[in-house]
Amino acid sequence: MSVAIRDVKRITTHVLQAMKEKDEKISMLTAYDYSMAKILDAAGIDILLVGDSASNVMAGHETTLPITLEQMIYHAQSVIRGVERAFVVVDLPFGSYQGNSTKALNSAIAIMKESGAHAVKLEGGSEIEESVRRILSAGVPVMGHLGLTPQSIYKFGTYTVRAKEEAEAKKLMEDAQILEEAGCFALVLEKIPASLAKKVAEALKIPVIGIGAGMHVDGQVLVTHDLLGITKDFHPRFLRRYLDLFDVIKSAVEHYISDVKAKDFPNQEEQY
Ligand code: KIV
Repeated sequence: MSVAIRDVKRITTHVLQAMKEKDEKISMLTAYDYSMAKILDAAGIDILLVGDSASNVMAGHETTLPITLEQMIYHAQSVIRGVERAFVVVDLPFGSYQGNSTKALNSAIAIMKESGAHAVKLEGGSEIEESVRRILSAGVPVMGHLGLTPQSIYKFGTYTVRAKEEAEAKKLMEDAQILEEAGCFALVLEKIPASLAKKVAEALKIPVIGIGAGMHVDGQVLVTHDLLGITKDFHPRFLRRYLDLFDVIKSAVEHYISDVKAKDFPNQEEQY
C-alpha cells in the first residue's frame, strides 16, 4: 500500500516525482533563515527554496546579482537547521556557475557540503547544460529555472512576462526538454503565459513548478515575504497575499514604543 504524501517524513526527489504522477500539487516557498524555515516546515511545505531573492528581500538590493556564494551558504545553513520534512533547494548565485562548468560544480559542492542542503537551482537552458550535467555527475540534484530569469535582468531590461512570442516560446520548450534530458529533477517556470506552461508541464515527465505561470503546472512557488505581506510595494498579478504582516508588525512595534515611552513596560510582573 503506498503512503499518503502528507504522511511522508522527509520529502525527496522521488516523493516529488510521485506527486507529479499522482497529480498531487507541490507547494514551495522561499526561506532564508532558521525561524521562518521552522514555521514553514511545521506547516507542511514540500519544498523550501533558499532563493537568491534573499538579495532583494533580506539585503535590500535592487536585483539578485550582488548576493555571493558565501552569503547563500549562510542562509542555507540557517534554513537547514529549521527543517525536518521539507526538501531544501538552494540557488546558485550569479557569477558562481555561468560560463564555467568547473566553477559550477565547485559552487554546487560547496553549497551541499557546507550547508547540508538537498539540491541546487540554476537559471538558464542550453547555455548551462554542461554545468548541469557536471553537477549531476557529482550526485547533486538540480532544479532548472526558465522564463523570467532575474539573474539576466540587464540582458532583458524588464521584469515583464516572458516567452509571449513564438520564437521565445519554442526556445523555452526546447530548453525545458534539454534540462529534463540532462537529468534535472524539477523545473521552475517564472512569469510566462499559462498556456505555454501547461504545454511544458504536459511534455515533461519531471515536476514543473510555476511562479506566475498559471494553474496547469505541477506545483506553485512564491516568495514568502510577498505572500505574508512583509514586502509592501510589489503587486504582480500572480501574487496572492495571505496577510498584511508589514502593517501587523508595524502596529505591534508602535504599541511597544508607546508602552516604553509611557513607562508602562515593563510592569511589576515583568521584572525580577
Ligand atoms: O530566488 C527566488 O526566490 C526564486 C523564485 C522566485 C523561484 O528563484
